[in-house]
Amino acid sequence: MSDDADLIAWSLSEVAERHGDPTKAVYDRLFAQSPEMTELFVNDKTGAARGEMLSVVFETLLDFAGSVSYGANMIRAEIVNHENLGVPPAVFATFFGTVMETVRDLLGEAWTLQVETAWDRMLTNLNELIVREPAV
Ligand code: HEM
Repeated sequence: MSDDADLIAWSLSEVAERHGDPTKAVYDRLFAQSPEMTELFVNDKTGAARGEMLSVVFETLLDFAGSVSYGANMIRAEIVNHENLGVPPAVFATFFGTVMETVRDLLGEAWTLQVETAWDRMLTNLNELIVREPAV
């Protein structure tokens, strides 16, 4: 793992240790920022899909920030898969940003400049991936 992936992994495990499962906080934030996203998840009555999706998102973004063995391809594939669910490609960048903001707020003072730099770099690379290879 790269230093960035280590720092991002640390921030995620620290959130879990201090606050437990962050799923509700992430989606509450997403729906507050983008209320139109709420209707995409109407079939997920129990929240199980949201929880499962977030755990895959965490694994994917850690891979993307680190070794980049499958993360970039996974994101490209999910952009196409999710278009069938009505999720516009650009929302991927905002969703990862929402995850970052949630982690930042939950960590409070434990959110350091180094952790922020690692997340920023990952989000910038993700933006470039989405802009460079938009789903058609
Ligand atoms: C790399 C990014 C992403 C990954 C790896 C991912 C992965 C997944 C997975 C694995 C599921 C199936 C969950 C299950 O049914 O157990 C899912 C469902 C879904 N995802 Fe994502 N997702 C990503 C990004 C997004 C984004 C940005 C949105 C929009 C906010 C989104 C919206 C949805 C919706 C609406 C469903 C269907 C929920 C339902 O079953 O009702 N996903 N995603």
